[in-house]
Amino acid sequence: MAVLITGGAGFIGSHTAVEFLNAGYDIVIMDNFCNSKPVVLEKIKEITGKDFKFYKADLLDTASMDRIFEENPDIDSVIHFAGLKAVGESVAKPREYYHNNVTGTLNLCDSMTRHGVKTIVFSSSATVYGDPDVVPIKETARVGNATNPYGETKVMIERILKDIYVSDKEWNISILRYFNPIGAHKSGLMGEDPNGIPNNLMPYITKVAMGKLPVLHVFGNDYDTHDGTGVRDYIHVVDLAKAHLKALQYIEKAHGIDYFNIGTGKGYSVLDIVKAYKEATGIEIKYQIDPRRPGDIAACYADPTKAREMLGWVAENGIFEMCRDANNWQQKNPNGYEE
Ligand code: NAD
Ligand code: UFG
Repeated sequence: MAVLITGGAGFIGSHTAVEFLNAGYDIVIMDNFCNSKPVVLEKIKEITGKDFKFYKADLLDTASMDRIFEENPDIDSVIHFAGLKAVGESVAKPREYYHNNVTGTLNLCDSMTRHGVKTIVFSSSATVYGDPDVVPIKETARVGNATNPYGETKVMIERILKDIYVSDKEWNISILRYFNPIGAHKSGLMGEDPNGIPNNLMPYITKVAMGKLPVLHVFGNDYDTHDGTGVRDYIHVVDLAKAHLKALQYIEKAHGIDYFNIGTGKGYSVLDIVKAYKEATGIEIKYQIDPRRPGDIAACYADPTKAREMLGWVAENGIFEMCRDANNWQQKNPNGYEE
């Protein structure tokens, strides 16, 4: 039996591939490298000492998707990461985001159906909660009102998967709503490698730590939070990867569709992260306070009780390890995956 990992060359997919290989699973990875590089596949092999099949393929190419299932009849489940994820870009290019993420997922589900594969773990996001009424957020919180097209694609895909399950109860679906994944594999061989100037906090900080960017711009210090800066639930990417193992093991036993928050349950402000980075690495991050970033919310953190009770999953790493490992990756790979 094998697990197909779509988007397995990406940040979270590559770390998940390592955890699945280490746990003894056979995997097949597919990716079109629109936001990743082939060398990551070598890193996965180097870390695990294991081999796997890879397809350079696009979710939107139905024939390629069918070929993967035809050539690998042992695939009996899918972990679905492949998708575009940049919030700002999604505002500028909504058609591309809806097409890639929503049509791409429909194509995948069609291909799965044609080949009798009905088990899927899907990468959703805390963004489906929009601006939450209360924190910490439970899975029962209102979903919808995403603040951008990227978030809407997650809301739509969640809905599509639910309707697929309603139409055919043989499907096993686990929807993981990630909070803010950061950090890197502790080997320093894999990590987050955004193109251009990073949009997200941690990759921006690691670039400031390297001296590649002069100063961190803190987007607003007048939010209703303990120090006025935005509060988020940061989760180590390796803990997040392990949540996929637990989620798959759970749905292998129980039919149905279920939703899980994957976060630590702790909220840290931007300035908390700057402080933690110094404690973990000794590096002082120079920052300046700038205006709020449009579309940002004050605070977003998970109630992860359901994942603990039903999946038996808890985050093992804290903010210290997240900062340490993100910094380790960046220092060892100043240009990311580029030679
Ligand atoms: P990533 O961009 O590093 O990985 C996504 C991978 O999918 C990339 O390797 C990309 O090349 C591939 N891909 C995209 N469209 C494709 C297509 N049509 N066909 C084949 N491959 C395609 O992103 P990530 O951070 O690893 O995120 C993985 C998933 O988790 C995404 O669905 C993302 O929306 C979701 N997610 C990410 C975060 C986050 O902050 N990183 C938070 C919540 C949810
Ligand atoms: N921030 C800064 N300066 C920066 C970058 C970010 O101050 O240069 C602040 C933001 O204002 C926010 C916090 O740091 O308060 C975290 O920002 P990120 O951009 O790292 O993350 P977001 O919470 O805005 O968004 C992330 C993903 C989204 C996803 C969302 C919820 O980027 O895709 O988490 O899962 F939808």
